Amino acid sequence: MVIGLSIIGYSFTVSLQDFIAELDSLAADAQGAFDDAEDTTALEAARVEFLGAKAGRLKAAQKGMGSVDKPDKPTAGQKFNAVKKTIEAAFDTATARLNNSGGSQKHDAFDVTLPGKPVQLGRLHPITQTINRMKEIMGRLGFTAVEGPEIEDDWHNFEALNIPLSHPARDPLDNFYLATAGAQGNIGAGPDGKPLLLRSQTSTVQIRVMEQATANTVAGGAKPPVRIVSLGRVYRPDTADATHYPMFHQIEGLLVDHGVTMADLKSVLRMFCQSYYGDIEDLHVRFRPSFFPFTEPSVEVDINWRGGWMEIGGAGMVDPNVLRAVGYDPEEVTGFAFGMGVERIAMRQHHITDIRDLYTNDVRFLAQF
Ligand code: PHE
Repeated sequence: MVIGLSIIGYSFTVSLQDFIAELDSLAADAQGAFDDAEDTTALEAARVEFLGAKAGRLKAAQKGMGSVDKPDKPTAGQKFNAVKKTIEAAFDTATARLNNSGGSQKHDAFDVTLPGKPVQLGRLHPITQTINRMKEIMGRLGFTAVEGPEIEDDWHNFEALNIPLSHPARDPLDNFYLATAGAQGNIGAGPDGKPLLLRSQTSTVQIRVMEQATANTVAGGAKPPVRIVSLGRVYRPDTADATHYPMFHQIEGLLVDHGVTMADLKSVLRMFCQSYYGDIEDLHVRFRPSFFPFTEPSVEVDINWRGGWMEIGGAGMVDPNVLRAVGYDPEEVTGFAFGMGVERIAMRQHHITDIRDLYTNDVRFLAQF
């Protein structure tokens, strides 16, 4: 290479024409290398090859200027500066191209002025929110949350709750039995051979908890007080309409101790309602005499709403028969129990008029809570 020879000490002249031709081909090579660079690593390698300060090809070409005839030197210098600018500009263009395309020539440019996509945040279902709030309020009143199974046996759903065999609450039209007793051997039947069912009420959990507590007593463990709430699903074969659904939720409360009275029940329920609907100025709670097989006396609980009353559940003093069924002495301990509809309480809070809205899972509805 003509220019290369000069750097090892031979003194000879290079024609201006050759010098210009050499620079032109250098510029074309550089342009091609920068254009072909697919990523910043390739571009950097090309930059070192052509624009490198020590061993770059442009630097080498510059040395050739010393061998050009003296009268031609100004022209050679101008040419050199022009080519240098061209190569530097080609490098800048290639750098900008790679920065804009995120490293690849093939991508379209990204318009940073376009509005972003909104992030959709998930949230808890309104029933879950209601349950959490109820647990928290009852927790502050000293009640521990417990759970029970949704598939129940005859003993826990009926018998121990003082609901005898002849009671209409056992009607197959009012319950989801899993099988008729004996029809297929033991399938769908409990340990007593009687059919299992989807629980129709959370009062089943009262029995399970008290049985456990008495088992503990026998084993020398904890005695009453029992102070629990249980929140969960219950099932009844109702046709779905604005106020009915074949599955809904209840909150069950139970307190058993020495000397528990109806006054305790009323004040706990009043406190619960006032805490839950704390933002409502004049909340009234009304108790009406009623009947449940497992409580005596029994009441129905109403709260005021839109100039009238809305029933939110049932309650009463635990029937001595129930206490006896789980091994307590009704002469020694007394208790109260209550059961309220979770959907009712959520619907009143959020002014929901159709219970089915809670289970259609339309995100436009759910996004409001
Ligand atoms: N279990 C009753 C129901 O489902 C409600 C209730 C619970 C009533 C506890 C009294 C005591 O209707």
